[in-house]
Amino acid sequence: MGKSFDIGLERLTGAGAWPGSETERRIEAGRFDTDAGRETFYLETFGCQMNEHDSEKVAGVLLARGYKQVETPEAAKVILYNTCSIREKAAQKVFSRLGELRPSEGEPSAAKSREVDARLNARKVVNAGGGKIIGVLGCVAQQEGEEIFERAPWVSLVCGSASYRKLPQLIAELEAGNRRVTGLDTDTDETFETEITRRDNPFRAYLTIIEGCDKACSYCVVPFTRGPERSRASASILQEVRQLADMGYTEIQLLGQTVNSYADSSARKMRFSDLLVATAEISGIRRVRFTTSHPRDFGKDIVEAIEAYPAICEHVHLPVQSGSAAVLRAMARTYTRDEYLEKVAWMKSAKRAISITTDIIVGFPGESDADFQETLSLMDSVQYDGAFCFKYSPRPNTPSLAMNDIISEDEKSRRLAILLEHQREIQRSRNEKLVGQVAEVLVDGKSKRANQWSGHTSSNRVMNFSSHAENILGDYVQVKVTGATPNSLIGEAVTGPVASP
Ligand code: 5AD
Ligand code: SF4
Repeated sequence: MGKSFDIGLERLTGAGAWPGSETERRIEAGRFDTDAGRETFYLETFGCQMNEHDSEKVAGVLLARGYKQVETPEAAKVILYNTCSIREKAAQKVFSRLGELRPSEGEPSAAKSREVDARLNARKVVNAGGGKIIGVLGCVAQQEGEEIFERAPWVSLVCGSASYRKLPQLIAELEAGNRRVTGLDTDTDETFETEITRRDNPFRAYLTIIEGCDKACSYCVVPFTRGPERSRASASILQEVRQLADMGYTEIQLLGQTVNSYADSSARKMRFSDLLVATAEISGIRRVRFTTSHPRDFGKDIVEAIEAYPAICEHVHLPVQSGSAAVLRAMARTYTRDEYLEKVAWMKSAKRAISITTDIIVGFPGESDADFQETLSLMDSVQYDGAFCFKYSPRPNTPSLAMNDIISEDEKSRRLAILLEHQREIQRSRNEKLVGQVAEVLVDGKSKRANQWSGHTSSNRVMNFSSHAENILGDYVQVKVTGATPNSLIGEAVTGPVASP
């Protein structure tokens, strides 16, 4: 999931870098000939949308210091991994990446076979001797701390997200020749705001409004790795939205682990729903998204805001985690199945067709087959438009680590497969019901096939459609749905030239 294209500083300020502009063409063509002597960095991101956006800000900090972004670790002076530790597999991936960077001198590779050894050798880069700086950012950095130096002594920077405001200082220390620096505090009341953010997505601008998490779900590392909740002041958020609108962005996505727990840190004390409305009212903004919502703080006022403002997207991501009241209690989710379903009922009875997506964990300790059936029945009643489903993964420091009645890996896999199939059928039938309707699509992709485009609806569905228009990237297009799959819609543009049959 690495984002590693060099788009230079132009995209940061928006100065002429809008898609289709001369600057954009120059950037896309990769003709940067003024970079001689600039230090280089490679940044790879794992995990959630918050991490992706943190990486945009980290890149902004480095670009503002005169660094140039490159596409491979081999070409970089500074190699950074922004890591995820939400499940064990994600955390392991980071250590395998670090293993690939093991210096040629020193210990022999741990690779078992010659073939693997050869592959690793091909990717080996030399650290301090060759002047490389290797840094681990994000959740694994926070969780493992200085232990990372033990496991991978060639790493020189370890910094968790709650300390990113210190990044410029840490980078300066490395530039000054310091061998090892860390930023591991989580007892902060500051958020990570930067002068410049490098934005990877030219159509959707992400904006963190609340960092950290104060909930204490018994399975989750986030409160440990991202620290306590800190909200930005509403005026600062709205000012940034205005700047983004001036740069040409029409779609804004407000981010937070629990975005709707937003608590304005200024005297204005805007509610989350007020902030949604104020964002939607900014001239030039046509779409406002937000993720992730926590059911406990999901009030009717959010549904009312969606009903009243077409610019607020008709999509709510509302993780339920389990349909069983007992499992929800053990997870310390702070709501019951019935309370969750009540919030869903508000959305179902709204004037707009609000699309609901969710996260579900299977195989939480003690989850009986009857509990699992409750999750399936909840899915039937809610009729989700999308679900991210995970096998429970025991994580360090979390209360559920000590819980009994562990579910075997095989059983977790069995339940996951059933869940995925169940959800697939729900999505297939929900998407098929949309055939014949017309939806507005923000066009964000062009297929290699002639006259084929893709984009997202307000409900966040992917629409693949045909249009004979020359260049509609970034445009809003009315598209008639002609077909459906579980994961996307197929359509034909109804404005502008329509594809001939
Ligand atoms: N095991 C499995 N899934 C988890 N999630 C969070 N912690 C764990 C864990 N220990 C899932 C939740 C959350 C999503 C981002 O990741 O479903 O909503
Ligand atoms: Fe983790 Fe729960 Fe916070 Fe979500 S609300 S980040 S699952 S602790």
